Amino acid sequence: MKLILLGAPGAGKGTQAEVICKHLSIPAISTGNIIRAALKAQTEMGLKAKEFIESGKLVPDDVVIGIIEERLREDDCNNGFILDGFPRTVPQAQALDQMGFEIDRVIDIEVSDEKIVQRMSGRRVCPGCGASYHLDYKPPKQAGICNVCGEALIRRRDDAPETVLERLKVYHSQTEPLIDYYRAKGKLRVVEGQEDIADTTALTLKALEDRA
Ligand code: AP5
Repeated sequence: MKLILLGAPGAGKGTQAEVICKHLSIPAISTGNIIRAALKAQTEMGLKAKEFIESGKLVPDDVVIGIIEERLREDDCNNGFILDGFPRTVPQAQALDQMGFEIDRVIDIEVSDEKIVQRMSGRRVCPGCGASYHLDYKPPKQAGICNVCGEALIRRRDDAPETVLERLKVYHSQTEPLIDYYRAKGKLRVVEGQEDIADTTALTLKALEDRA
């Protein structure tokens, strides 16, 4: 299965990608995670991406397209993959088409802007292993500490309220057109991003099985 998860920042793409990755035993590929790892390692690409990511803007298409093509050609993607955060613009979707990967399904997780703003204020992430939590909806076992590696949790810099508003603006103008792009190809399924993570998971897994 070659799957794309669409949705606004904070809609729950990463959360659902983690579940589907285990369910289908295929890798979940997050461009956001790849860029943040490059930023942390201070690679040339990471330094180039820094100002974009921290201000809530998109990293230029040519940078992201190169990264993703290289990643999708790795052996672990032979049986499929889940794309979380790519494509994010129509030129990125067209580039993916040209790479020759036949996408089976695109799932759009829909959540209102109001809910997103509220959700992002409660997200906490682990700077060590990248695990993601929510103060109310997915709390760690011990407050402020990562379940996986024991590091102290932090708030992502781009989860600051003013940056979240900018990311939503960018999403509506540059990424939302992809909904029609994939609807026209007959690949789109829309899932309501419920307040209960498990409910969204159930809807997402159902949308994967829906062959209609
Ligand atoms: P990226 O890391 O991809 O961020 P994003 O798309 O903005 O999405 P998030 O990771 O913030 O949210 P998510 O939808 O995964 O939600 P999550 O599951 O964490 O990208 C960051 C930046 O990198 C971009 O702004 C850009 O600069 C750059 N970039 C990345 N890809 C790019 C590309 N292709 N082109 C150009 N630039 C690119 O959930 C959010 C929170 O809500 C969590 O706390 C979670 O626990 C909670 N939650 C999840 N589901 C639910 C639910 N159902 N109910 C209640 N709470 C929930």
